[in-house]
Amino acid sequence: MPSWLNDAVFYEIYPQSFYDSNGDGIGDINGITEKLDYVKSIGCNAIWLNPCYDSPFMDAGYDVRDYKKVAARYGTNEDLKRCFAEAHKRGMHILLDLVPGHTSDQHAWFRESQKAQKNEYSGRYIWTDSVWNRPDGFGCMCGVSERDGCYLLNFFSSQPALNYGFNRITAPWQKHYTDLDCVATREAMKDVMRFWLDMGCDGFRVDMADSLVKNDDDRSATAEIWRNVRKMLDQEYPEAAMVSEWSDPRRAITKAGFHMDFLLNHLGKGYYSLFRETGPDGSQRSFFSKQGRGNIMKFLDDYLPQYEASKDYGYISLITCNHDTPRMTLGYDELERKIAYSFLLTMPGVPFIYYGDEIGMQYFNLTSVEGGYNRTGSRTPMQWNHGKNLGFSTAEKEKLYLPVDERDVAPTVEQQEKDDSSLLNTIRKVLALRHANSDLQAVPNFEVVYAEKDQYPFVFRRGSFVIAVNPSCRETNIPLDETGEPVFQIGKSSLENGRLLMRGQSFAIFKK
Ligand code: NOJ
Repeated sequence: MPSWLNDAVFYEIYPQSFYDSNGDGIGDINGITEKLDYVKSIGCNAIWLNPCYDSPFMDAGYDVRDYKKVAARYGTNEDLKRCFAEAHKRGMHILLDLVPGHTSDQHAWFRESQKAQKNEYSGRYIWTDSVWNRPDGFGCMCGVSERDGCYLLNFFSSQPALNYGFNRITAPWQKHYTDLDCVATREAMKDVMRFWLDMGCDGFRVDMADSLVKNDDDRSATAEIWRNVRKMLDQEYPEAAMVSEWSDPRRAITKAGFHMDFLLNHLGKGYYSLFRETGPDGSQRSFFSKQGRGNIMKFLDDYLPQYEASKDYGYISLITCNHDTPRMTLGYDELERKIAYSFLLTMPGVPFIYYGDEIGMQYFNLTSVEGGYNRTGSRTPMQWNHGKNLGFSTAEKEKLYLPVDERDVAPTVEQQEKDDSSLLNTIRKVLALRHANSDLQAVPNFEVVYAEKDQYPFVFRRGSFVIAVNPSCRETNIPLDETGEPVFQIGKSSLENGRLLMRGQSFAIFKK
């Protein structure tokens, strides 16, 4: 286990939209390097960088054309190398985004694979044996290649699935995952990883980590591949970290060997019940809504078994949101978000803050850019100050990757830095406390103290700290056999004479 993870707090950077250092309207690597001190100042000592590789950008870079080359619009490999070095100087770590399940249909491997003539890459993707043979149950493309066959897709039509084989074979064109062609794909991906790790990167966020082997019902073959990758890391790069987009820590961490796994906002799951749950009539039922009609047990019933199964092997990662989800400002006011983020940042595991969430950037309804569709509204430029383009870029407005927030009330870093009670400064205080106290870091010391169906507050213990959260606008007063002094509060709470009293919309960290 990489030693730095226990005290890691991540900041996710969407490179298109963070900071444009050369005035061409799009963010770049040198822009990220310039802003490392800002990221560190929030209390984030690690970064997950969304794909920054050469790509035709049909899916914002998740359609990789060259795994080993930084896209020209972001700079050069040398720029990225310098960014890693500057991060390390500040005690920070950077994870790149590894997209192992598919490439762009413009990747050189795929171009070779499309040829009728057999070659080294004929088995790198998944092809049926005839163009008339369209497999059931898989997305595929037919009739667009010289080669006689249809190829399987992993996501959009521009993203052919790499061939890691099948676990349950149902047709003659399907190869078992232990076939040499499938093993060669895995080795090619390890080669990509070594390339960036040797350059100074500290590991990877892994895109669609559960998608490798097809017909892999319990994901056991996919897990076997990742364990093989983990073995390579343990031997060659023991301080490199991997976080999976899997959202099933029991499998991702315990079986596949990831150091961390995200809990994502999948419908009906625990994380969803915290922030996105609605009743049959569309009414708000999330635990963190001030309406106070949520149910913390929906979260715990999902989270606790996952936590128990994975806690000896790795960390669950909770997110403020990411480049695929609506920002929390959609539906939540500032106080609700302060309380929600304080909770996320004091839970065990390794938390992730999406750029701009720390200042309360909005979700916008925008026309799709680069395959973003409804996700585009969460990907707008970072808001630094009230200068031109909110300090994101010196380019003319028309040249910006996406429009900036044009409202007078657009929040910015500059404005929030001046206000001690701003969202940004609230997050800074919580993170400072987390870094100063090992009990509040990733360690699996989580104990539920008070949680009742349809009731508020929710109280949990982490070592010498008792953390209480009452997102509801109603005051709560419960018997609680605990003692402690508040070391951080939003709203007002007291823990005295065997009772916990919390005002509506409050959060408190008590220390014994
Ligand atoms: C998940 C990524 O987060 C998303 O942005 C992307 O479109 C798909 N995987 C496909 O790579």
